[in-house]
Amino acid sequence: MFANRALKHLFLCSLTAFSSAKLAWKDTKFLVTFGDSYTTDGFNITAGVNSSDPGFVSSNGPNWVEALGSTYNVAGTKVFNLASGGATIDAALVPPYLPTVLSVVDQVAQFKRFLAPKPAGAQWSSDDTLFAIWIGINDVGNSFGWTNITQPQFYSVLMNRLTTQLDELYDLGARSFLFLTVPPTDRAPLFLQQGPAVVAKLRPFLVNYNAQLTSTVKKFESKHRGIETAIVFDTQPVFNTLLDNANTFGFVNVTGWCEAYENGTPSQTTQTPPCAPVSNYFWLNSLHPLFTVHKLKEPFTIENETLHANFQSVAERQAEWSGYPLTFYYNFQDPCLFYVVSGWEDSEAHRKWIASDTNQQFLHIFGPILTVDGLAHIDIDFNQIPSNTSELLVRKETGGGEGTGFVQESDDGRQPSWRGHGVDVDNTNDFYYLEAYDDFKGPVMSKAGEGTYVLKRVYA
Ligand SMILES: *[C@@H]1O[C@H](CO)[C@@H](O)[C@H](O)[C@H]1NC(C)=O
Ligand SMILES: *[C@@H]1O[C@H](CO)[C@@H](O)[C@H](O)[C@H]1NC(C)=O
Ligand SMILES: *[C@@H]1O[C@H](CO)[C@@H](O)[C@H](O)[C@H]1NC(C)=O
Ligand SMILES: *[C@@H]1O[C@H](CO)[C@@H](O)[C@H](O)[C@H]1NC(C)=O
Ligand SMILES: *[C@@H]1O[C@H](CO)[C@@H](O)[C@H](O)[C@H]1NC(C)=O
Ligand SMILES: *[C@@H]1O[C@H](CO)[C@@H](O)[C@H](O)[C@H]1NC(C)=O
Repeated sequence: MFANRALKHLFLCSLTAFSSAKLAWKDTKFLVTFGDSYTTDGFNITAGVNSSDPGFVSSNGPNWVEALGSTYNVAGTKVFNLASGGATIDAALVPPYLPTVLSVVDQVAQFKRFLAPKPAGAQWSSDDTLFAIWIGINDVGNSFGWTNITQPQFYSVLMNRLTTQLDELYDLGARSFLFLTVPPTDRAPLFLQQGPAVVAKLRPFLVNYNAQLTSTVKKFESKHRGIETAIVFDTQPVFNTLLDNANTFGFVNVTGWCEAYENGTPSQTTQTPPCAPVSNYFWLNSLHPLFTVHKLKEPFTIENETLHANFQSVAERQAEWSGYPLTFYYNFQDPCLFYVVSGWEDSEAHRKWIASDTNQQFLHIFGPILTVDGLAHIDIDFNQIPSNTSELLVRKETGGGEGTGFVQESDDGRQPSWRGHGVDVDNTNDFYYLEAYDDFKGPVMSKAGEGTYVLKRVYA
């Protein structure tokens, strides 16, 4: 029998999952991003649509836009990153730290000038382009201490200004939008170091800004016809989960930063005494999280021993409960999909486990980054699956007959060490065909899909 779950890897997997609501990520040909230092990567549209993105990122490693454009790029998505470090919504409302910073108003003007005409290399269309906007960190941060405004009222001024920019993008053809909320910057050293009074004052401002952003997006969506998606992705639960469970996720220091690292380090493992290695920090400097928060480390942080230890402890407890060991896999085509394959006497026994305290505790920690995406109970003797399986080919066939659904040939002629098939006991129309391979050499089939999945084993 077989259970499967999806692990939304830290921030990025959460994001790709959410951004695929209507315009699926796999069908997204163009991604246009607007924002500040959390988003910028040196891409310079003024230098042309094929400008490279060699610039400074605030995360000491690929930021979320670069990760979406590379590791997580499944559709050859072309990225136009218009973000500018230090950006606010409008420099006339909240001045940025330098006059040269391009605000969202400036970034939208650049979009209009360089991309709206759809030049060669940027022939985007309304139904294949996602517009992602992550703004507000500096709006809230820079205006935090102002006494000439009431912050919540001022945020509605900011929202009105942001709305004019969204309207402009809509008029130019944008139909799919992703918004990211302001993360808990009250937990960043910049504010922590100013003491509990400052932190306590900032917290409700962030909550208010994010609430206004969410209602602004709803209003924008209902005002216009034909908006395909307008999703608000809340970054707060993800950041808070990582910060609250620092040990689990391998962060040693979540409150401070090391001056020697603040502008980036030559390597991602750099250590300058007396500081701990840079990889141990959540914050690279006073305000910017390290790239490990943006994305997984290569090959995948999921293979990190600290996370491993946590899964292992759940695995042990579940195995004790069920009498079957747990095996873990991820999906080659979609590294965000994480699978737990194990045995149960019957599906009732599994349901009891799901409701158990141990499992609920696990879900409490991993809840914000992990969602149970699917579950299948297959009538196969789990003990038959060779314990040294390193790659598992899974094919689901609806209304499938007996034993006809195996994949006939692997790309490289390898033979599976075991094959088995069985009905989904909760949905007897579905048959599952499993093929196990024991010597891992890369995905056994490159053209899997359409109900066929290649899973790679993690954690022996
Ligand atoms: C972007 O490219 C333009 C044109 O090549 C150049 O003038 C400008 O300085 C560049 N901007 C930055 C921030 O590098
Ligand atoms: C950008 O690259 C694309 C190919 O990826 C090409 O078709 C286009 O002409 C290029 N545009 C410019 C301005 O160089
Ligand atoms: C409030 O004061 C700040 C800082 O002096 C200034 O930049 C801003 O324009 C003022 N805002 C309003 C609404 O008066
Ligand atoms: C796992 O994470 C910890 C803490 O960040 C780090 O020290 C260790 O090197 C990581 N291990 C691997 C294999 O990446
Ligand atoms: C975090 O790192 C900073 C800089 O190295 C250090 O001053 C601080 O004491 C560390 N905090 C903890 C809790 O280790
Ligand atoms: C896996 O185990 C089987 C026996 O169950 C054995 O024949 C095979 O050689 C093993 N493969 C590897 C790579 O160890």
